[in-house]
Amino acid sequence: MTKAWFKNRLNDHYLQKSRADDYRSRAAYKLEEIDQKYRLIKPGMKILDLGAAPGSWSQYALRKVNGKAKIIAIDLLEIAPIDGVTIIKGDIRAPENQAKIIELAPNGLDLILSDMAPDTTGVHYADTENSALLVHLALDIAEKLLRPGGNFVAKVFEGVEYQQLLQRTRKLFGFAKSFNPKASLSRSREIFMVAQDFKPQPSK
Ligand SMILES: C[S@@+](CC[C@H](N)C(=O)[O-])C[C@H]1O[C@@H](n2cnc3c(N)ncnc32)[C@H](O)[C@@H]1O
Repeated sequence: MTKAWFKNRLNDHYLQKSRADDYRSRAAYKLEEIDQKYRLIKPGMKILDLGAAPGSWSQYALRKVNGKAKIIAIDLLEIAPIDGVTIIKGDIRAPENQAKIIELAPNGLDLILSDMAPDTTGVHYADTENSALLVHLALDIAEKLLRPGGNFVAKVFEGVEYQQLLQRTRKLFGFAKSFNPKASLSRSREIFMVAQDFKPQPSK
C-alpha cells in the first residue's frame, strides 16, 4: 500500500469526522493540529480569523475556549452566523473593514489566523504567487493590528516565494516555523507558517 493510499484514507477519515463533530469543513482539524503543537488558542484572547468561510476555524477556536474569547471572522463570502463570533463580510484589504476590527479590539489582537486562499487557476506559479500575496497581506494586517508578543498562523501554497515570506515573518516575530498538518489533502501544496512573539518594527 502506497503513501498516497494512506493519505486518501486519512482524508476520508477527516471528512467523516467533520460531519460527526458538526464542523463546517474538515479544515478545522488542520487548526486543531497546529494548536495542539503550538498551544496558540487560550481563553480571553482576541482572535482574528482571516478568510474564515465557511467557518470551521472559528468554530474550533470558540470550542477550544468554551466561548471565552473574542473571535472576529472575515471573508469575501457570506458566513452563516456562529453564536459568539463577530462576522464581517468583505475584503480584509478594505480600510473600513480594518477600522471595524480596530473598533472591536482597540488594544490589539492576540492572534491572527489566516487560511485565506486565492481562486486557483491550475497554473502553479500563478497560484503560488497569489497565495504568497495573501500571506503578505496577512502580515501587513499583523503589523497594523497585532499586539506586541502576539501570534500568527498563515496558510501558503509552497512555491519560490516561500523562503522570502519566511524571512519577512522571521524579522517580525521571535519564532517562525513551517508546519504540515496530516489533515491537509495529499495532493495539496499547502503549508502553514506559525509565528510567535510579534515584535513591532520601529516606523521608517
Ligand atoms: C480555504 S477557505 C477558508 C476555510 C476556513 N478556514 C474554514 O475553516 O472554514 C479560504 C477563504 O479565503 C477567503 N479570502 C481570500 N481572499 C480574501 C480577502 N482578501 N479577504 C477576505 N477573505 C478572503 C476566500 O473567500 C475563502 O473563503
